Amino acid sequence: MNLAIKTYQDYLSVYKYSTQEPENFWADVADTFSWKQKWSNVLEWNFKEPKIEWFKNAKFNITYNCLDRHLSENGDKIAYIWEPNNPSEEVRKLTYNQLHFQVCKFANVLKANGIKKGDRVCIYLPMIPEALIAMLACARVGAIHSVVFAGFSSQSISDRINDSQCSLVITADGSFRGDKKVELKKIVDEALPSCPSIKKCIVFNNRNFDINMLSGRDVFWHSEFAKVDELNEPEWMDAEDPLFILYTSGSTGKPKGVLHTCGGYMVMVGYSFQTVFNFEPQQIFWCTADVGWVTGHSYIVYGPLLNAATSIVFEGIPTFPDAGRFWDVIDKHQVNIFYTAPTAIRSLMAMGDEFLEEKNLSSLQVLGSVGEPINEEAWYWFHDKVGKEKCPIVDTWWQTETGATMMTPIAKLGIAKPGYAMYPMPGIQPILVNEKGEEILGNGVEGNLCIKFPWPSMSRSVYGDHNRFQQTYFSAYPNLYFTGDGCKRDEEGFYRITGRVDDVINVSGHRIGTGEVEDAINDHECVVESAVVAYPHDIKGQGIYAFIICDKLVDDVNQFKIEVNKIVSERIGAFSKLDKIQLVKALPKTRSGKIMRRILRKIAEGDISSIGDTSTLLDPSVVDKIKAGVVVF
Ligand code: PRX
Repeated sequence: MNLAIKTYQDYLSVYKYSTQEPENFWADVADTFSWKQKWSNVLEWNFKEPKIEWFKNAKFNITYNCLDRHLSENGDKIAYIWEPNNPSEEVRKLTYNQLHFQVCKFANVLKANGIKKGDRVCIYLPMIPEALIAMLACARVGAIHSVVFAGFSSQSISDRINDSQCSLVITADGSFRGDKKVELKKIVDEALPSCPSIKKCIVFNNRNFDINMLSGRDVFWHSEFAKVDELNEPEWMDAEDPLFILYTSGSTGKPKGVLHTCGGYMVMVGYSFQTVFNFEPQQIFWCTADVGWVTGHSYIVYGPLLNAATSIVFEGIPTFPDAGRFWDVIDKHQVNIFYTAPTAIRSLMAMGDEFLEEKNLSSLQVLGSVGEPINEEAWYWFHDKVGKEKCPIVDTWWQTETGATMMTPIAKLGIAKPGYAMYPMPGIQPILVNEKGEEILGNGVEGNLCIKFPWPSMSRSVYGDHNRFQQTYFSAYPNLYFTGDGCKRDEEGFYRITGRVDDVINVSGHRIGTGEVEDAINDHECVVESAVVAYPHDIKGQGIYAFIICDKLVDDVNQFKIEVNKIVSERIGAFSKLDKIQLVKALPKTRSGKIMRRILRKIAEGDISSIGDTSTLLDPSVVDKIKAGVVVF
């Protein structure tokens, strides 16, 4: 069947085929990639264990598909345009030939440092081309990369390294983000003494910062590079061999290592990039995410490269040197497709329209949003002021666990509603369920969002803990993948994500588990117990509101908040800082000791008139005391 989608009618017929004959549909898509050996079965699955296997026994390498197969036609095409943090510094451009050369060489560096198929490698790098080269080199030798966002603390790095027993870490001396100096090697040095699995640390000298190199463990990227040759035969992987681990927060416990495998991920990420954005070969694509998050993995690294695209890699932040930086970069590099996050849109909108006034922006053709619900005001500003009312917005809903976009308006089909993810991608079968797990049929309804049929880029497991994978995603509703999101289906059958229905907070598009933040707060010597909830925040989407019980009288609450936030930054990272705190004497708990966050959320939202039933609480009077004592810092 012809899978091209140019009109909404095309979409409807491709969608129908993809759900009636999912295996044929995905096999058609997979046929557009390069395989050393084809699969024996397209799909084997059950959501009970769960076991999900796509394209089993196929042999290939994702980097062959990202790089080698483009070289004869597109070797001199630019793969990446690197825009430095400081606009007066030089732009770096890498052609497909040059990127291939770098990846092959660095793959040989990894091998020379003892890395082989299946080993775990931690990557803690700024947004420089070497971050992408390191990821691709891992994939080329069959090592599993675990990228840790460079805003995470040393404690978070060591937790992640230890969880997946990484044997090598790749970092840099440091970088600048805006005018802030970030000393990455120092942070890694603090993490590594508690990481016995690490044998080697490869350091990219990015800024000539003064750093310590531990003899026997630490080696420089450049000197290792000089020792190896550039020929590298990729490791021929099975489609179901792991590609990467990416840690993400959930309702409970420590962050989970979401595991993705090579084949299905490649097929769906490559396909979705092309389809969602209606990508054409001459277009310049810019995704503003960091490679430390899944959006960076799928739509800076793998998706664009699989399509031989030219994309921007941006080292800086949207407000440096001023709040016009995004628009300057778009004009400077004539960006056609611009994919960013609602939090960035809201913060730039709040700075005022004057930063847009002198900008041309006429190169823009498609805009994209990802990571959190986008409010109507931000959607219209993006559409009218940035897209000049001529660019469709693709509001892509997906998750670290889904690997690729699941629901979105497809660019240029001309059907969109502000704040709506609209309709599922071909091959994706969403359903809404009620609390009892029954499917909610019809339109004009709301429920919990589940997916009822596997898709190729779905996570296969939680690294080292398959039981947790089963419990987190497949136990709430039998035979369904539960997303953790609430969702509306409107009268016309279009979908709108309403946000998390579990204890995950989404701050500026970063997923944060309430439990992780509470554990950090509880480490303060005066704290007995705490409970953290989200509240609506104009810029960040959600802010963090903490209810804290102390065993001593706190004289200076502002100072106390600074101390608690220092601990939170050290344990997790600065992006998890508390926005508001309220000191309380007790927390609302059920008779079984569970904190009733629903009630705390209402108080944090300032909605104290509709708190609802408190009769199941051990001591309902606690709620009145908290309400009466609302003094927030
Ligand atoms: O709540 C949804 C929200 O972000 C969550 C996934 O976060 P993460 O795994 O960090 O991945 C973010 C980037 C793919 C989802 O469960 N979310 C993501 N995209 C949207 C969204 N909420 C509403 N609209 C979106 N477009």
